[in-house]
Amino acid sequence: MANTQGRDIFPPSCSIIFLLLKLLSYSLSAKGKADFSVSGPGQPVLAMVGESVKLQCHLSLNISAEDMEVRWYRKEPSPAVHLRKKGRDMPEEQMWQYKGRTTFWTAGLAQDQAVLTIRNVTVFDNGTFHCKFKESTGSAEATLWLRVAGLGSEPRIQVRAGQDEGIRAECTSEGWYPEPQVEWRDFRGQTLPSTTNLTVSPTTGLFAVVSNVIVWDRDVGNLSCSISNPLLQKRMETKSHLPAAVLWQEPPVFSGNVRGTGIGCSWKKRD
Ligand SMILES: *[C@@H]1O[C@H](CO)[C@@H](O)[C@H](O)[C@H]1NC(C)=O
Ligand SMILES: *[C@@H]1O[C@H](CO)[C@@H](O)[C@H](O)[C@H]1NC(C)=O
Ligand SMILES: *[C@@H]1O[C@H](CO)[C@@H](O)[C@H](O)[C@H]1NC(C)=O
Ligand SMILES: *[C@@H]1O[C@H](CO)[C@@H](O)[C@H](O)[C@H]1NC(C)=O
Ligand SMILES: *[C@@H]1O[C@H](CO)[C@@H](O)[C@H](O)[C@H]1NC(C)=O
Repeated sequence: MANTQGRDIFPPSCSIIFLLLKLLSYSLSAKGKADFSVSGPGQPVLAMVGESVKLQCHLSLNISAEDMEVRWYRKEPSPAVHLRKKGRDMPEEQMWQYKGRTTFWTAGLAQDQAVLTIRNVTVFDNGTFHCKFKESTGSAEATLWLRVAGLGSEPRIQVRAGQDEGIRAECTSEGWYPEPQVEWRDFRGQTLPSTTNLTVSPTTGLFAVVSNVIVWDRDVGNLSCSISNPLLQKRMETKSHLPAAVLWQEPPVFSGNVRGTGIGCSWKKRD
């Protein structure tokens, strides 16, 4: 109600000024439109943790970007990932996370592309980037996606003999990104149920894995712990040959069918 009343008492002269302002802003934005456009790779760019990655943007025309302001940024335009103004890098306006890690390739500037190299990629680089080209008549920008991947360390398996609780094996590994998948298999290649703990390092953002299995079947032979990165579709696997890690001793603690050797036993750690 109050709103309608407010509109009613709005003086006509104000409406005209408002209209004029609107027209003015239209013409301004039209003037701000660049006569070129910018494009990125379209596909997400894959980068490995600790390595370097090149982010490329192309101008639609074969024009020089040398005199343009080129700004690479994440969420907010400022501070930037990398900023070049009047042919000069501007570290003053750079995010601290990117200080000393970026190079803008001037060699490409005379042509139609701009390449930004980011060194020592971290998981915090995963996500969206923008490259914005600005000249006197206007600006244009493109969006890029960076996908960061980390292949962790080779898994380590530790086997501990339990008393009445079967054989406990623990698999550990660090340096994974994104979230890895863990799988245990027995010598027949059958998966074993396990409990897995993933923790994120507060400094690197990488995942560490601690995974446990309890094996009841004495016939289990070899155990393997396999950790895979879904993004890279690569895995690291370690096999543990149980009889090398534990010693046959004492009569069996479990009843039931002992396949294969027929040796009655329980597992015990070698001293
Ligand atoms: C782009 O322009 C540069 C310099 O003006 C020229 O040397 C180059 O051949 C041009 N490239 C294309 C693909 O037209
Ligand atoms: C790369 O980044 C990691 C994590 O931020 C850091 O610990 C390491 O020192 C950096 N390495 C180089 C060569 O800058
Ligand atoms: C990493 O970035 C990509 C886009 O580049 C996004 O789709 C994905 O969700 C991000 N991953 C994580 C774990 O944030
Ligand atoms: C997983 O981590 C939590 C917290 O650190 C801990 O309480 C729990 O015992 C761990 N579980 C396993 C299976 O290691
Ligand atoms: C266990 O692994 C060892 C060494 O890799 C291999 O020689 C042996 O045949 C394996 N045993 C079984 C039961 O798979």
